Amino acid sequence: MRKLAIVNQKGGSGKTTTAVNLAATLAEANKKVLLIDLDPQASASLWYGFKEKGKGLYQVLAEDGRIEDAIEKTQMEHLSMIPSSPLLSGVEKALANEVAAESILKNKIAGLIDKPWDYVLIDCPPTLGILSLHALTLADEVLVPVEAHVMALHGLVQLLKTINLVKQRLNPLLEIAGILACRVDYRTKHSQEVLTQLRTRFEGKVCTSVIRENIRLAEAPLHIKPIILYDSGCNGSLDYRSLALEIMGHKKI
Ligand SMILES: Nc1ncnc2c1ncn2[C@@H]1O[C@H](COP(=O)(O)OP(=O)(O)O)[C@@H](O)[C@H]1O
Ligand SMILES: [Mg+2]
Repeated sequence: MRKLAIVNQKGGSGKTTTAVNLAATLAEANKKVLLIDLDPQASASLWYGFKEKGKGLYQVLAEDGRIEDAIEKTQMEHLSMIPSSPLLSGVEKALANEVAAESILKNKIAGLIDKPWDYVLIDCPPTLGILSLHALTLADEVLVPVEAHVMALHGLVQLLKTINLVKQRLNPLLEIAGILACRVDYRTKHSQEVLTQLRTRFEGKVCTSVIRENIRLAEAPLHIKPIILYDSGCNGSLDYRSLALEIMGHKKI
């Protein structure tokens, strides 16, 4: 079971788009996938049609609830999901006095008797608070989507430092699966320059796959379908299939 946290403290980086659609393309490739939505804004949950699922994940994290009760089936045969709960924004406060709170989710997953998944993907909120720490403690790999815009590169060094600190202090096995360039528009010089800069500055860490700007990806959530079920032949589907192949090809399996 490979566990990937999809992390970037900057909102609008492409985390949710990547979590939702990489989960779908891995499932399409016959991998069993569990997608966990750790963002109180619940965008990934809404994308798969889960609305206001009560306490759900909040109960698991803050009230010692059973994780089995929070797992839902999705429209894709091989994809299950733990939807977010709006209450998740209160987790920080609820766990303020808890020792080693960040390992709760990791322990709950480890404690499951039945773990049929090849991949666990975790969509994180746009902050590096307790919820993202839960993800970084649980994961063995981090996937970092970045918007192909020069402003988006500024926070990246800081993020990699934070990931390194988590590795030293909480999770020695944590590796970077890759930095993923998202919303790349090959028609603009700026987008190409950012891609070149990214590959030079973070040599060896940037995914070969690139996610192009594709309006179909922005439309898909309104239709409550991952991109491959919304428009199987569009660039967004091709790019996330390419990413799935790249991730599956990594030696760690
Ligand atoms: N490759 C893409 N092409 C077009 N729009 C995209 C693409 N990736 C993301 N978006 C849009 O950009 C916005 C932010 O993406 P999202 O995945 O929600 O980022 P995050 O989860 O990091 O905040 C959304 O409106 C989404 O539809
Ligand atoms: Mg998001």
